[in-house]
Amino acid sequence: MAERHRLYAEMNRSGPVHRVMLPHGEVAWLVTGYEQARAALVEPRLAKKEPPFAEDLDPALRSAINRSMLNVDMPEHGRLRRLVAAAFTRRRVDRLAPRIQQLTDELLEPLAGRVAATEVDLIAEFAYPLPIAVICELLGVPENKRENFRKWSWADVNASVIGLEAYAEAATAFVDYLHDLIAAKREQPADDLTSALVAARDGSDQLSEDELTSMMYLLLVAGHETTVNLIANAVDVLLAQDGAWAHLASAPERVPAAVEELLRFNGPVQTSTLRVAVETFEFAGTTIDAGDTVLVGLLAANRDPGRPGAQVLDLSRSPNQHIAFGHGIHLCLGAPLARLEGQIALTSLLARFPDLRPAEDEILADPGLLINALRALPVTTRPT
Ligand code: HEM
Repeated sequence: MAERHRLYAEMNRSGPVHRVMLPHGEVAWLVTGYEQARAALVEPRLAKKEPPFAEDLDPALRSAINRSMLNVDMPEHGRLRRLVAAAFTRRRVDRLAPRIQQLTDELLEPLAGRVAATEVDLIAEFAYPLPIAVICELLGVPENKRENFRKWSWADVNASVIGLEAYAEAATAFVDYLHDLIAAKREQPADDLTSALVAARDGSDQLSEDELTSMMYLLLVAGHETTVNLIANAVDVLLAQDGAWAHLASAPERVPAAVEELLRFNGPVQTSTLRVAVETFEFAGTTIDAGDTVLVGLLAANRDPGRPGAQVLDLSRSPNQHIAFGHGIHLCLGAPLARLEGQIALTSLLARFPDLRPAEDEILADPGLLINALRALPVTTRPT
């Protein structure tokens, strides 16, 4: 991960906008400067763009996953976002705190003995299962179906690495499952978001069936793939900095500010999703031609060396105007939930394991372009 940050800093030192080759061979502009990244995310001449391989997908599958708010512009965007926005407000989300704490405790309790005796992969044992449990409970996905989600959503965010065939196979299985879930909720509604969306779909002409599956697909992928890495990257950064873990363990009231800084310093999302220029225009000294693809480097922008102190970890930074959750109309809908999960997860880990340490010297980063993830996070409290 250090290598990734070094490269982004080097790019920023030579300018805010760069020509890059994406993994599937497409050439795109990558915006790495902080001010320019914020400007690009609200630039009306940049519209949302489907991934390049979308047109090679079976049309039914393409329509069942690509009709979400994240894939469309105004006015469709507003209509789709409004349908779920109320479920993700800070007030609504704060009510989930006791349940998130309970899920956290259930996962951490059995780790206590093991982490003292041997090394434990904190991603597999904690950072992954917690967010998946939370988003699945919100959407009413039964427990026995959750295991597949890791495979499916990993395939989604790593589509450019694994190739079209593997991506389409995972997406098809995911959509088949969503169709079953929607049918089950239609038959027997429950107190969950899926049932509420099915009622919205059936009760008015606000939502098509494909928009419904796309919405659920987005919520399930976005709702956990990122939060897993918020928790894992936060722990990784804190354990790597001399004394940072112990300092925070002794001052847990500083966790909320620390979570913001960890989101800024080593957030879970490297780049925005794809945008396309709808006309030719000048942007930050570069001519962007109509039809050009543009990506916003959120990780790079957050540590833009052109901004004083941006390369330094400051756990009490305030104000902290990072763009780890994006900016503009597509600003992360789940940010209040992600923050709450991150704060509860970190506070609980610090309280239970004040002497946690990394169990291996080097931890490998996942190769994808979209997500900033570690492959595993082996930790222990065993004295060396
Ligand atoms: C959008 C980051 C957690 C749901 C986004 C975007 C970013 C982001 C950067 C905008 C992408 C773009 O403009 O191309 C994150 C991070 C998270 C996180 C860093 C965790 C730390 C969540 C959670 C949910 C969620 C828990 C829960 C449901 C969404 C949705 C959108 C979105 C629905 C699309 C919003 C729109 O298009 O209006 N997220 N996210 N995210 N995120 Fe998150």
